[in-house]
Amino acid sequence: MSTRNPIGVFDSGYGGLTVLKEIVRKLPQYDYLYLGDSARSPYGNRSFDTVYHYTLQCVKWFFDQGCSLVILACNTASAKALRTIQQNDLPGLAPGNRVLGVIRPTAEIIGTFSETGKVGVLATNGTVASGSYPLEIAKFFPELQVVQEACPMWVPLVENNEQHSKGADYFVKKNLENIFEKGEDIDVILLACTHYPLLREKIEEYLPVGVKLLSQGEIVAGSLADYLQRHPEIENRCSKGGRRSFYTTDSAEDFDNHATVFFGEKVRSEHLDLDVAVK
Ligand code: DGL
Repeated sequence: MSTRNPIGVFDSGYGGLTVLKEIVRKLPQYDYLYLGDSARSPYGNRSFDTVYHYTLQCVKWFFDQGCSLVILACNTASAKALRTIQQNDLPGLAPGNRVLGVIRPTAEIIGTFSETGKVGVLATNGTVASGSYPLEIAKFFPELQVVQEACPMWVPLVENNEQHSKGADYFVKKNLENIFEKGEDIDVILLACTHYPLLREKIEEYLPVGVKLLSQGEIVAGSLADYLQRHPEIENRCSKGGRRSFYTTDSAEDFDNHATVFFGEKVRSEHLDLDVAVK
């Protein structure tokens, strides 16, 4: 591992594989190291402090493995931990390394999809409560109205393979009705959670005609490609062998079983004991 300098991709579990899948499609030449903190997921309902400490521990592990660049593919971690890690921890830990999230690249572009000037953000309780999307979007599109809706049942539905069931119909319909009640003329819906693309079919069934549905994978991949082009000092340090390694803090077998659905191809992961690996 030490001669490699893979791009680190982090998520609370296997959901971030929906983001990695698009990154690999766009930038297949790089080496990638994925870590899913499945033993402590979901992060969606956890406090700021907890999400921050968990995420920081994982970021330290990535740095120990030689990663110069780490992408927090998890919305909740991006919302609750990224800023503190960038501002408080990175300067002491590894000032030349970079940690990026998924919220800013989405915020930079979302306004270009809307004609009504009103967009809807569907996310976990934690992401919604953090207010990160409205805050970040306002920096790029100050006039854009952002309506949020927490969908706390959507992650468990997907994790239990219920995305095509009647239960999924009930919750998808309910949350979409809620968000359109709050903002009738919303014309863009952002899926601001790693798991929600797996509910895309169901969401499309209940989405009013003409409303655009955005997933983050492609947006994040495009933004990463642009970032690497603008930062040769980081790009030069990223090794290019097309290799991918996967780690999980829980059972590797369980991770691999779920991973195929999220990543779209077979994954073979290894178990990682973070308490042993990171002091
Ligand atoms: N990865 C999380 C996110 O994108 C969803 C799963 C969780 O709550 O941990 O917000």
